[in-house]
Amino acid sequence: HNVPVITIDGPTASGKGTVAHRVAQHLGFHFLDSGALYRLTALTALRHQTPLADEHALAKLAEKLPCKFLGHEIWLGNEEVSNAIRAEEVGNFASKIAALPAVRHALAGLQHGFRMPPGLVADGRDMGTVIFPHATLKVFLTASVEARASRRYKQLIDKGFSASMEDLLKDLKERDARDSNRAVAPLKPAEGAYLLDTSDMTVEQAVEQVLRWYAAVK
Ligand code: C5P
Repeated sequence: HNVPVITIDGPTASGKGTVAHRVAQHLGFHFLDSGALYRLTALTALRHQTPLADEHALAKLAEKLPCKFLGHEIWLGNEEVSNAIRAEEVGNFASKIAALPAVRHALAGLQHGFRMPPGLVADGRDMGTVIFPHATLKVFLTASVEARASRRYKQLIDKGFSASMEDLLKDLKERDARDSNRAVAPLKPAEGAYLLDTSDMTVEQAVEQVLRWYAAVK
């Protein structure tokens, strides 16, 4: 496969989404927000009241997700859900269904389809470990839990959601534990991944670092 892929994996609210999106823009590459696929599945399941216990039904929803990505907009059928999928409730349920192998399997094919010329920047938890193990460049992007909680707080307030720092810290720690300790595709640096701790970095600095690494390996 000669279409270049840059994978950017890391914990929730690490800023990897913003960094990955800007790197993609800079290179003129496609962008895959794989977390959005889990969130879209979660939102659909919450609406259909599909329980976490029904793995088969959840995988069916994932497989038939009527989603469209139009620039920054994310659509589900004929509804724009870019903000709705960012709600904490949706993120929490997303991280629960993400532990189910059938759901991960259903979303894998969809994710591979994003690899198109001239290239792809893929953002998630298992982009470098499972979905694109032969990526051109793999980055594992982290930040301290405090830095991530305050970024998430600002993001939610900016989007008009209410938020409490205390709850966010608790949620982040729970979600980190769930994402890192699950049996299938746990969050961990891929073999050969470059580690980037952005706790004390601006988005621009992180973007520049990724672009420098890419220039060196491409
Ligand atoms: O990145 P984001 O917070 O939008 O992802 C929501 C949830 O989806 C994560 O907490 C994680 O459990 C799951 N996820 C995953 N694998 C990915 C992307 C997201 O398991 N590649």
